[in-house]
Amino acid sequence: MQTVYLDYNATTSLDAEVREAMLPFLGKVWGNPSSVHHTGRQARALLDEGRERAAKVLGCKPSEIVFTSGGTESANLAVLGTARRLKAKGRHLITSSVEHPAVLQCCAYLARQEGFEVTYLPVNQEGMVSPASLAEAIRSDTILVSVMAANNEIGTIQPVPELGGICRERGVLFHTDAVQWLGKEPFGDVHQFNADLVSICAHKIHGPKGAGALFIRSPFQPDPILFGGSHENERRAGTENLAGIIGLVEAMERFIHPPVFNKERLAPLADRLLCLVDRLPGVQFVGSRRQRLTNTVSFLAPGCDSIALLAGLDMEGIRASSGSACSAGSLEPSHVIQALRLPEQASNSLVRFSLGRNSTLQEVEYVEETLPEVIRRARK
Ligand SMILES: Cc1ncc(COP(=O)(O)O)c(C=O)c1O
Repeated sequence: MQTVYLDYNATTSLDAEVREAMLPFLGKVWGNPSSVHHTGRQARALLDEGRERAAKVLGCKPSEIVFTSGGTESANLAVLGTARRLKAKGRHLITSSVEHPAVLQCCAYLARQEGFEVTYLPVNQEGMVSPASLAEAIRSDTILVSVMAANNEIGTIQPVPELGGICRERGVLFHTDAVQWLGKEPFGDVHQFNADLVSICAHKIHGPKGAGALFIRSPFQPDPILFGGSHENERRAGTENLAGIIGLVEAMERFIHPPVFNKERLAPLADRLLCLVDRLPGVQFVGSRRQRLTNTVSFLAPGCDSIALLAGLDMEGIRASSGSACSAGSLEPSHVIQALRLPEQASNSLVRFSLGRNSTLQEVEYVEETLPEVIRRARK
């Protein structure tokens, strides 16, 4: 039986050349960049060079990049670190109801434990935030707005440059979680988001797991969330994961510009999946047909639950997801689907197909042959 991987939004394989570039850092370059002796200084020089290379890709200053353990930590540093740094100015945060838990859980924690108030912007039925609703929600005590560039579960692209513009006009810092956006959409430089903080992750673009970065527009400095040494310019304590950092930098250089998720190649494949979803009785596409990551096609299949659907697909060799990998295994309807307030509350029957570098027409044809029967069986 063939295997069809359609879960590129969950993670991607480590690219062979990225892996090759990382190998010296798991071997002969093993020094601690903070050590003052020669072995440490060699590691430091390569870390500094990595930061310069990352800054070149993003079009920012090297000092504006903090290397982290991935998208979750970057988003945590952006939200917790900014809220705590600016709390004397105000304690109001704004985010959207469809953010990744890496942002939502920080906001909930700040509200529960640290006296912050959070406004959750609603989305329309396509999962999109309206700039007008943001403009209305900003108050004199608002210190941070966090809205993702593209949604991991349904692929909806947010009007981030516009949202960032509103924040800038009103003097409020803006964070965007660009984890799903980078490598999939056209990229000029990091300033195109109009954001003060941008979260980045390596493993969604054929880099290693456990590596990421946060762009922080100077001169702003969030409070650290990890305490210890003065690494990363006192913004993130802990000996740097140099192999992971080099893997991230290599992946950024190779796969952000032009995006490794090639739209010309993926659009016809995604269109076939969309047509399939549209012609299956009772099955409902979710997300935006216009403002969507090209690689992502999500749908609800009322009368089934997603665990049964995913297991049925898996048995046929098709690896898909029910949206957020973090809630896989849970029967709770996804918060993203709930936020869409669809008339048909088939909310725990979500399936997400996310195409990528190795997806082929032949694989999509196999899905076309297989999915109708998997749904029929799951409905039984
Ligand atoms: C939109 C979004 N933000 C953040 C993350 C978390 O990234 P990481 O897996 O690197 O912690 C993910 C990963 O699923 C994501 O899709």
